[in-house]
Amino acid sequence: MTTVTTIEDALLTRRSCRAFLPTPVPRSQVEQLLALAARSASNSNSQPWQVHVLTGAAKRALAEDLLCAYETGHRAAEFEYQPCADEWPEPFRSRRRRFGDSLYGDTLGIAADDVAGRAGHHRRNYDFFGAPVGIILTVSRGPLQGALVDAGLFLQALMLAARGSGLHTCAQASLIDFHPVLRRHVSVPDDHVIVCGVALGHADGSHRLSTLQTSREPVSSFATFYSEATHHVESG
Ligand SMILES: Cc1cc2nc3c(=O)[nH]c(=O)nc-3n(C[C@H](O)[C@H](O)[C@H](O)COP(=O)(O)O)c2cc1C
Repeated sequence: MTTVTTIEDALLTRRSCRAFLPTPVPRSQVEQLLALAARSASNSNSQPWQVHVLTGAAKRALAEDLLCAYETGHRAAEFEYQPCADEWPEPFRSRRRRFGDSLYGDTLGIAADDVAGRAGHHRRNYDFFGAPVGIILTVSRGPLQGALVDAGLFLQALMLAARGSGLHTCAQASLIDFHPVLRRHVSVPDDHVIVCGVALGHADGSHRLSTLQTSREPVSSFATFYSEATHHVESG
């Protein structure tokens, strides 16, 4: 197991892990990671997040109900927030397609038109990819947009903290397709929105999914540097 001792190591070795070993993670270790994640910045230190941590029989019972809802197509009719677009505009559509090709095609060997094969992989989300710990992250609705920014910071901090203790994670927006099922298993206050799930545990390094490496656009594609005073003429 690689020892992650710097922020840079944690950033560079974090990846979405989709194959876990059943090795349990002690509750004290999960609590430590959550305490670190809670050091995240939030607007006015409002700390609008809550987490629900499921292990053992609680996780198994949730996974069973999620898988049943998935198999029978019982997706929620309405979402509490929109995690992604119905129709992605460019350049996101192409990036998403590239990601799908490398996950399903290059890594799993599932053809683009193999709908059943793709579904067979996707369904593994609902067992948290075999991770011993399943986390449900929620935030307060009041106000939601700011709280979602804070939730993102918490989520990233949790994923990096996990690397610091030799664990891996996968954020899972797919779980909210079945948010009513989640609400039956964990006690989410009415004024909270379920942001996503997080699978947490030890990676199964021998699984072919552990070879998946995602790429990133270069800094020059998203950063603009200014060193001279500039005044842009407003249009309209
Ligand atoms: C909010 C959020 C939700 C995600 N939901 C899922 C999911 O439901 N299932 C999944 O396999 N990956 C999910 N991912 C992982 C992304 O696909 C992944 O972060 C992206 O492809 C980049 O790859 P990397 O995390 O390995 O660097 C999610 C990531 C984020 C940040």
